[in-house]
Amino acid sequence: MTDRYAVFGNPISHSKSPLIHQAFAKSTQQNMSYEAILAPTAGFEQCLNEFIAEGGKGANVTVPFKEQAFTLCDELSDEAKLAGAVNTLIVDATGRLRGDNTDGLGLVADLERHLGSLNGKSVLLVGAGGAARGSILPLLNSGITQLVVHNRTHDKALKLAKEFASFGPIETRSLNQLDQAFDLIINSTSSSLSGEVPKLPSAIIGRTTVCYDMMYGKESTAFNLWAQQMGAKQVIDGLGMLVGQAAKSFALWRGVEADVEPVLTALRQQLA
Ligand code: ATR
Repeated sequence: MTDRYAVFGNPISHSKSPLIHQAFAKSTQQNMSYEAILAPTAGFEQCLNEFIAEGGKGANVTVPFKEQAFTLCDELSDEAKLAGAVNTLIVDATGRLRGDNTDGLGLVADLERHLGSLNGKSVLLVGAGGAARGSILPLLNSGITQLVVHNRTHDKALKLAKEFASFGPIETRSLNQLDQAFDLIINSTSSSLSGEVPKLPSAIIGRTTVCYDMMYGKESTAFNLWAQQMGAKQVIDGLGMLVGQAAKSFALWRGVEADVEPVLTALRQQLA
């Protein structure tokens, strides 16, 4: 029997998840389907319940339902608890709903794919919203030696660092305290969506600094263009994070690791 999976969101027509998971299913020879489901803004729970009642085995959840999905689960992974959001739902054999969050693991997997081990690296995480929150635990567990959070609204960075203080060393810096070059700078803000660049000093970028923007698009993102102009050694966009988080969800559902490279190449060609 074909196992059924889906991604829920609103809007959803732009989602690349069906293409990614269908490619994973083909390459790993899994008998499964994966579709995009547009849930009404106030109707996510009902849509999800119908999907599960019809035999749905698991789902991804995207904007704006990740926080609501978190409240609907019977069981949550540590990543989901700390992110306060769920991007992966797993319906277990007894019908219980498990929630996980693979966004941060997808980010770290993509960073490691590009850079090798993150051991010993100093990292500046820009932003203190949901995307930053989901990344902190996987980053702290990746072997990095310094994690600094900076946010336009400094109080939000302070609050976030306090919440994660027991999981590893995490610092915060306001704009005028950013006077050191980092090995890696990750932009988790939504600034690139509006073509803006967070206000940052050029001192954070040295000759060996790598910059990563969680956003991606046809053209280079505003943040990555700025980083290049400031002399960053390498800039990377978030397309690999998208495929990486999908691979982690796929592994949770099917117990197999899918190869991300062919899917990434196909998506990159599609964007061009
Ligand atoms: P997400 O879930 O995508 O992280 P969010 O929770 O709304 O979205 O958080 C957006 C983040 O992007 C915040 O850190 C926000 O900074 P503030 O807390 O100061 O609002 C940041 N952000 C958005 N636009 C920005 C810009 N133009 N410059 C700097 N930071 C920006």
